[in-house]
Amino acid sequence: MTMKKLRILMVSPEVAPFKKVGGLADVVAALSKALAVLGHDVRILMPRYTELRGFEGSEPLERPLIVRLGGHEAYGRLWRQPLPGSKVDCYCIEHNQYFGAPSVYVGPTGNEKDNGQRFTFLSRAAIDFCEQLDWIPDVVHCHDWACGLTPVYLNTTEAGRPIGRAASVFTIHNLEHHGWFHRSLLRFSGLPESVFRSDGLESMGELNMLKGGLYHATKITTVSPTYAAEVQTPDGGCGLNALLRFRASDLIGVLNGVDLDEWNPETDPLIPQPFSADNMQGKAAAKAALQKAYGLAVNPSVPLFTVVSRLANQKGLDLLAAIADRLMADMHIQVAVLGTGEPTLEHAFHGLTARYPGRFGSYIGFNNELAHLTIAGADCFLMPSRFEPCGLGQMYSMIYGTVPIVRATGGLIDTVKQFEEDRVLGNGFVFHHPTANALYYTIGWACATYYDHQAKFKKLRQNGMSGNYSWDASARKYEAIYDWAIDSRLAAFR
Ligand code: ADP
Ligand code: GLC
Repeated sequence: MTMKKLRILMVSPEVAPFKKVGGLADVVAALSKALAVLGHDVRILMPRYTELRGFEGSEPLERPLIVRLGGHEAYGRLWRQPLPGSKVDCYCIEHNQYFGAPSVYVGPTGNEKDNGQRFTFLSRAAIDFCEQLDWIPDVVHCHDWACGLTPVYLNTTEAGRPIGRAASVFTIHNLEHHGWFHRSLLRFSGLPESVFRSDGLESMGELNMLKGGLYHATKITTVSPTYAAEVQTPDGGCGLNALLRFRASDLIGVLNGVDLDEWNPETDPLIPQPFSADNMQGKAAAKAALQKAYGLAVNPSVPLFTVVSRLANQKGLDLLAAIADRLMADMHIQVAVLGTGEPTLEHAFHGLTARYPGRFGSYIGFNNELAHLTIAGADCFLMPSRFEPCGLGQMYSMIYGTVPIVRATGGLIDTVKQFEEDRVLGNGFVFHHPTANALYYTIGWACATYYDHQAKFKKLRQNGMSGNYSWDASARKYEAIYDWAIDSRLAAFR
């Protein structure tokens, strides 16, 4: 375990609460906070999109950041804002052409092809940030494809400079998104032609930012141990399994934790009344508020199943849409869905809301306040994911006494343990095959347990609530990984 105070630069396309699309934003913020508590000097770099949350009152730094790309320099303005409740400074880089819009993965022109330039700029800005602020980190920790080129710069254009001695750690939050662009991006990036090869950035004649990060990072992590094994298989590897097997000795899975300053029923300002395992009255108040918010019949005794999710293929919510009519016909339950994403799913949930007034509710959009209520007030939380690198929703729900129903994949396997009826062990309901029927019968099992075995259902809630979801243990694992990465990096210079 390290005794040394490390300088750690986190680079990420999203950071909560400023800008969040999914769990990546939560994790970068919470891990940074936990590392700062352990005494490390942590800074974060992210883009300054428009409409950042909680960014009011922050001031730009006086000097612009000069981002040195291939054959040209781009100027960015840096804004500094502490992460709420921590000593961590988050630096946001402003550049209107690249980030002058509110969305993360669609830039100002609306053309996703621009993401190559947008996130090459971010990847390169990480290097120039350290050099121009004269703050050379021990570790640069990159998150997902959008900062995949940073480790490549460290190993090439920066080799021989002080920043080139920094170790890099690349965390895979989701292997599905590669950042795949025309090879002309290489010239824009200023990286040497030599990195454009099959054991580097090249992938079927194009430039793959994720692949570059995975080849060049000193160490690689994934966000759960099971996902670390899955990414090395043809089924879970998204075409990069061979590369990840090749790098297996540098790859490790660390389970995400939860930011308990944000997700805690005892202190959460976004729910009507606090509650805890010893006093669940506030949970009943949350359920009533949730039912009202979605236009459901306010009834404490009907089991309420909820979803808070990106509506993407990964999440398996088409399975829910496929069985929703059967559920409504066969079971006395309510369902509420908060999500945004694939239009067909948005449309399906809209339709169900219209067909089953008072029983099926939906809110299509992104709404953090409603997310807290939707998790806190529910009886069961649905995550029928096809794959799930870690998943935070199931952990948030257990903390709030909401029983998760999950498919056995990735981090869901590592966090949700099957209900064992006889001994009343476990903390959720787990099914294996990603089929609509498997989901249907598992919801039926949860529904029957809720109505017919109330004491057991209560125990399931309590089992979830008594789990340890804090970041402490995982932040210490990252600390050890940083030491490991620094040792390997420095060994290369000996
Ligand atoms: P992923 O990162 O794959 O989307 P996670 O379970 O790790 O999945 O994290 C999802 C995070 O995003 C959770 O914090 C969840 O509450 C939040 N979230 C997802 N969709 C919405 C939404 N429509 N409104 C508010 N929060 C959402
Ligand atoms: C990704 C994954 C999710 C994980 C999150 C945070 O978005 O899809 O499973 O929890 O990153 O690591």
